[in-house]
Amino acid sequence: MKTYEDLEGDGGSDIVGQVVQLGAKLRSRLDKVKYKVALMSGKGGVGKSSITANIASCLADRGNKVGILDADLNGPSIGHLLGVGNDIQLEMKGDGLEPGIGHQGIRIMSMDMLVKTADTPVMWTEEADATAVWVSTMESTAIRELLADTNWGELDYLLIDMPPGSDRIDNIRSLIPELAGVVEITIPSPLSQHIVTKSITKNNKMGVPIIGLIENMATYVCPHCDKEGKLFDGEDVHKLSERKDIPYIGKIPFDTRVSRSQSGNLFYKEFKDSVTGKAIAEAVDNIEKFTTK
Ligand SMILES: Nc1ncnc2c1ncn2[C@@H]1O[C@H](COP(=O)(O)OP(=O)(O)OP(=O)(O)O)[C@@H](O)[C@H]1O
Ligand SMILES: [Mg+2]
Repeated sequence: MKTYEDLEGDGGSDIVGQVVQLGAKLRSRLDKVKYKVALMSGKGGVGKSSITANIASCLADRGNKVGILDADLNGPSIGHLLGVGNDIQLEMKGDGLEPGIGHQGIRIMSMDMLVKTADTPVMWTEEADATAVWVSTMESTAIRELLADTNWGELDYLLIDMPPGSDRIDNIRSLIPELAGVVEITIPSPLSQHIVTKSITKNNKMGVPIIGLIENMATYVCPHCDKEGKLFDGEDVHKLSERKDIPYIGKIPFDTRVSRSQSGNLFYKEFKDSVTGKAIAEAVDNIEKFTTK
């Protein structure tokens, strides 16, 4: 495949120079971040964003400096979960944009902060016949810019909340080759396990390090008595982790308080001593063990 270096003449745009400059900017930002961790699942709606937000809350509670890149451009959730709306005053400092500061000082960057109103969808074009390739290129460029143009500052952890699907990790990996690893998230349902298996297989084939598998909505916890029961039928998720030879790093119950605490404090901060809070902390223990080993 040809690269920018192969171009003969550039009409004065110095495209090679621009690309090199962009790369250097990205590097200098990411060099200040100790561990970059992506949270993903082939499947949609399994709790990637909620788990990312609460893992960030737990890491921050332990004294880490944490940032979250919302890599879900079309369904951004992180701003909402961390209490940063699109009414935020965006501020440029030096050569970058100041990140939003969410609950517990967590730094975030999300498409939601850039759209005009809370109801505005992200539309790459008004044209109905835009090709999938063009849209995909625009999305890749947007992720690169969100990463490179944000003044993340010194961070212990940059968490990346991935959109559903297993394809976007290619882009993240090319932008962040030193990615510490990915956390895969599934719910116990057979359909979710089926799809997440594909994502794990792909990551294994591509040599993307997998920190482990989190089972979300594993059980139901009664908010009154903290007793647990089963919510979904499905094969024990431990079997999937054994079959794919990746660690099982967290069993997080369904807890109505997780979905309720969307604009107040994060669930973990408020309920860390609950069964679900302790389960989140256990997953974080495993993530910290993997990244700091
Ligand atoms: N452990 C949990 N207990 C209760 N509700 C949960 C839990 N995890 C997630 N939810 C709820 O499930 C819904 C889907 O969660 P979330 O948006 O985090 O999933 P997602 O995987 O990020 O979705 P998408 O694929 O659209 O990005 C939300 O309403 C969230 O509040
Ligand atoms: Mg999400």
